Amino acid sequence: MSLNIFGLDIGTAQFKMSYGDRILNEHNCIATSGREMVAFGDEAYDMFEKAPTNIKITFPVKRGVIADIEDMHILLKNFYLKINGARRPGRMTDFYIAVPNDVTEVEKRAFYELVVRSKIKCRHILVVDKPVADAAGAGVDVSRAKGIMIVNMGAGVTEVSVISFGGIVVSNSVNTGGDRMDESIIHAVRNEYNLEIGKKTAERLKQELAFVGKGEEKTFPGFGRNVLTGLPVSARISSRIICKAISEPITMITDKVRMILENTPPELSADIIKNGIFLTGGVSQIPGLKDHLFTETEIQVNMTQRPAESTVRGISLIAEKAEFNRLAYVPEERFA
Ligand SMILES: Nc1ncnc2c1ncn2[C@@H]1O[C@H](COP(=O)(O)OP(=O)(O)OP(=O)(O)O)[C@@H](O)[C@H]1O
Ligand SMILES: [Mg+2]
Repeated sequence: MSLNIFGLDIGTAQFKMSYGDRILNEHNCIATSGREMVAFGDEAYDMFEKAPTNIKITFPVKRGVIADIEDMHILLKNFYLKINGARRPGRMTDFYIAVPNDVTEVEKRAFYELVVRSKIKCRHILVVDKPVADAAGAGVDVSRAKGIMIVNMGAGVTEVSVISFGGIVVSNSVNTGGDRMDESIIHAVRNEYNLEIGKKTAERLKQELAFVGKGEEKTFPGFGRNVLTGLPVSARISSRIICKAISEPITMITDKVRMILENTPPELSADIIKNGIFLTGGVSQIPGLKDHLFTETEIQVNMTQRPAESTVRGISLIAEKAEFNRLAYVPEERFA
């Protein structure tokens, strides 16, 4: 009997789910009024910072781990129904879930339990280590390749890992990513322009203006409230301010990469030099980041196509290719 295969990568900012060749990638948030869900995903994010006081917008994943299991259940159910339009009833269903590495066993288990308790009828529920899925998504032959360094720069966490023959050799993460950059931007814009901006504007400014290293100075309008007069105003925000604001989180990330390189067994270091570092995650799209990392490490850096979706793409490949099957496992067997 043929299969319905679903892949899951539940991120701090974005919920990604694959089903066949479809990928759903929406904001991982929910809008509620009392106990009622008003909206979920991108629609809920549209309401964020704009909703009346009776509507609450919450993000159930904090720094890469599930913090609110109830809301996460509701979101999983709704995203599943949304991507599921073409699902053929009667087929068996398997779920493959990406789990972060540098978290506690309880936090890892929460991703698995989420699907187990969802009441979605499944034949198998399996997990895959996120760096392994990332490597597959970046086009690496994960089960055979040795000495692959993966740097996943997400919204809440940057995870740096070295994998070999489909397993993790060293991995560590730092609670820095896109969200930390947005907070820094809010601060910098307040100090420089006396302008109070929201998280959404900060994120937009990051995407429009941020770069690392050399780049042309440009400006972009930022809308907010003047902190002195209290009135709504707009100002042309300079890329110089944004680049300075993101420099500290960038340094934290490069420091972590260097630390992992220093902790990598020498034989694998030689392979990393040959293969290069693989960059994934939404934040890796900041222009100049690749060259900056090369300057800092003197190791060639490979970008991934559509990097925010590389984990879930990798999950699909691991689920579908027989030679990758051993990379997915049942948590009881490993977490026990
Ligand atoms: N073009 C871009 N330039 C800079 N940052 C970007 C760009 N596009 C998306 N981002 C940022 O990438 C982040 C989302 O990336 P991603 O989907 O990989 O994170 P996540 O999986 O939700 O988080 P995590 O893996 O930390 O739990 C957000 O902070 C977003 O602002
Ligand atoms: Mg992620």
